[in-house]
Amino acid sequence: MKKSFSLGALALFWRSAVALTCTETFTPVTASAFVAALNPGWNLGNTLDATETEGDWNNPPVVAATFDDIKAAGFKSVRLPVTWAYHFTGSSPDWTVDATWLQRVSDVVDMITARGFHTIVNVHHDSWIWADVSASGANLTMIEERFYRLWYQIGTKLACKSQLVAFEPINEPPGTTAEHAAELNKLNNIFLQAINDASGFNPKRVVTLVGLGEDSVKTSTWFEPPNSSFTNPWAIQYHYYSPYDFIFSAWGKTIWGSDSDKATLEADFANIRGNFTDVPLLIGEWAASPVATETTGRWKYSDFLVKTAKKYNTATLLWDNGNDFLDRSSHTWRDQVAIDIITNATEGVANSLPDSTTDGAATSQWSSAYIYHKAGTSVTDQSLPFLLNGNTLESIHSSSKKLAASTDYVVDGSNITFKASLLSSFISSSTAPGPVTNLTLTFSAGASLVVTVVQWDVPVLGSTTSKAVSGADLAIPITWKGVSKPAAVQALESDGTYLEDTWTVYLGPLQQARTTYANQWNWDSSHIIITASAVADVIASGKSTTFTVEAYPRVAGNYANYTLTV
Ligand SMILES: *[C@@H]1O[C@H](CO)[C@@H](O)[C@H](O)[C@H]1NC(C)=O
Ligand SMILES: *[C@@H]1O[C@H](CO)[C@@H](O)[C@H](O)[C@H]1NC(C)=O
Ligand SMILES: *[C@@H]1O[C@H](CO)[C@@H](O)[C@H](O)[C@H]1NC(C)=O
Ligand SMILES: *[C@@H]1O[C@H](CO)[C@@H](O)[C@H](O)[C@H]1NC(C)=O
Ligand SMILES: *[C@@H]1O[C@H](CO)[C@@H](O)[C@H](O)[C@H]1NC(C)=O
Ligand SMILES: *[C@@H]1O[C@H](CO)[C@@H](O)[C@H](O)[C@H]1NC(C)=O
Ligand SMILES: *[C@@H]1O[C@H](CO)[C@@H](O)[C@H](O)[C@H]1NC(C)=O
Repeated sequence: MKKSFSLGALALFWRSAVALTCTETFTPVTASAFVAALNPGWNLGNTLDATETEGDWNNPPVVAATFDDIKAAGFKSVRLPVTWAYHFTGSSPDWTVDATWLQRVSDVVDMITARGFHTIVNVHHDSWIWADVSASGANLTMIEERFYRLWYQIGTKLACKSQLVAFEPINEPPGTTAEHAAELNKLNNIFLQAINDASGFNPKRVVTLVGLGEDSVKTSTWFEPPNSSFTNPWAIQYHYYSPYDFIFSAWGKTIWGSDSDKATLEADFANIRGNFTDVPLLIGEWAASPVATETTGRWKYSDFLVKTAKKYNTATLLWDNGNDFLDRSSHTWRDQVAIDIITNATEGVANSLPDSTTDGAATSQWSSAYIYHKAGTSVTDQSLPFLLNGNTLESIHSSSKKLAASTDYVVDGSNITFKASLLSSFISSSTAPGPVTNLTLTFSAGASLVVTVVQWDVPVLGSTTSKAVSGADLAIPITWKGVSKPAAVQALESDGTYLEDTWTVYLGPLQQARTTYANQWNWDSSHIIITASAVADVIASGKSTTFTVEAYPRVAGNYANYTLTV
């Protein structure tokens, strides 16, 4: 049942008496043309959306050169998340936004569009700061009034921007019920009313409307098309961070790419497309971050996600919080291969990929993005399987030269054997542990791949036990000896009880009793960190608990134990 909405006096009170006249150029586009042209896109994450303001999180203030880097990498658009909550200078009923902040946002929009990019400007963390319609005791009248006034002011400031600029009403609005969804459908309409009232080019501007959480299932279930009196071309934006365990490094899930993994992702995209057969769709955020995911799993996931989105006529915009992909200060990509996989897959070009374990019941895992050599052992030939996907291998380069086929490596079907004679030029049994060199594989089409030669040994902790002390994270010195991050952390109480998530007993042997990144553990280049919350759980359990810090490769014995006593 469609619900009507009415702004009543609110809109009449604020509606501008005289329509804004723009001298700039605006060439109207359809929503589907806009969405097709912005693919693939990139998010300027943790920047203008930082709370309270730009520069408060991990990123310094925006510089235009960042967008040159984005353009050079092959992206076509920038989503611009903006948090407005701390930039109001007035309260009810006018909710005046600081003119300096509006100007800053307008200037960043200009930096983006000056490079020919499409952009989507939004209202970001306001969704949980003051605009959460699901919060207990939420004053919906106040949220509607403030939301209208905010978008009226954004709409006025950006009214004369070109057709390259689209608006998104609100980021990931919280909510779980049909009532929350009905209120959000109303907010979508209030947003449209506000920007139309602000006039200028806004009545023809593309908008990307949202459902609860920008979640595909909630959007499919409850989203209502906007009031047909609005003339804006509209698309639907949703976000995709699934499966949670792989994307967020939970419960030891360090592999991705089984038939069932792929079928789940495809079913998710097919469902929302099936609900909105004639609406342009975009995935405004997604990411498999190099911070939290294993390399081959990440590359296979990124390729499959972009390919499948393309199959369902859906554009993708990569989330980048500033620590994930682009190192803005050095203008380098932390995972250039992932970026090349995304841009090629978006063009419909088949990428060759490394292969890796897909069987969740396996007791050890391998990954063809690495040639792992164990310190103290002799150097032998190493065979790695690849997924050529119809391409042929054209060349392999080390940092200094082109390698010789048949002498340095042998190709057998989709396996590449790296000869001991080649590997011995980089590593010996006594080479210091860590990444040693990169080999670049070029194929007849698609992204080039990097295989990193890693000398590895078991990580060593600076201490192995302490008494649990409540109230703070515990940072334990560690010497990583290979890939400098944990693969997983298991937590077992002295009697064998799982400290967390006892249901993980139903998972495979490399996932049982494993805990979750950020919730229970974290790390840096020289520490493994047990979070205060995990320490508290140990104290609450009353039992000494051993944390098993597992490293890559995930093979027997590649771990270090730390015991927290009570
Ligand atoms: C759409 O907006 C018009 C103009 O404000 C209003 O008269 C009409 O009732 C609205 N329709 C619905 C379904 O909300
Ligand atoms: C809710 O917000 C409206 C508009 O700002 C205000 O008039 C009203 O007093 C608020 N209600 C409560 C219960 O605070
Ligand atoms: C619409 O979405 C719902 C929820 O994801 C799903 O169950 C349903 O199958 C979808 N409908 C179509 C036609 O795909
Ligand atoms: C390819 O490599 C895998 C893993 O090392 C091995 O099991 C398989 O037998 C190899 N296949 C061929 C054709 O050499
Ligand atoms: C390998 O390449 C990555 C970037 O893809 C880089 O960060 C790393 O330093 C390189 N490693 C070596 C040993 O050259
Ligand atoms: C595809 O991959 C190649 C090789 O890594 C890269 O040079 C190119 O920029 C990528 N993107 C496109 C769209 O071709
Ligand atoms: C490390 O801890 C695990 C789990 O408690 C235990 O099974 C294993 O034997 C321990 N390893 C060593 C070397 O103590």
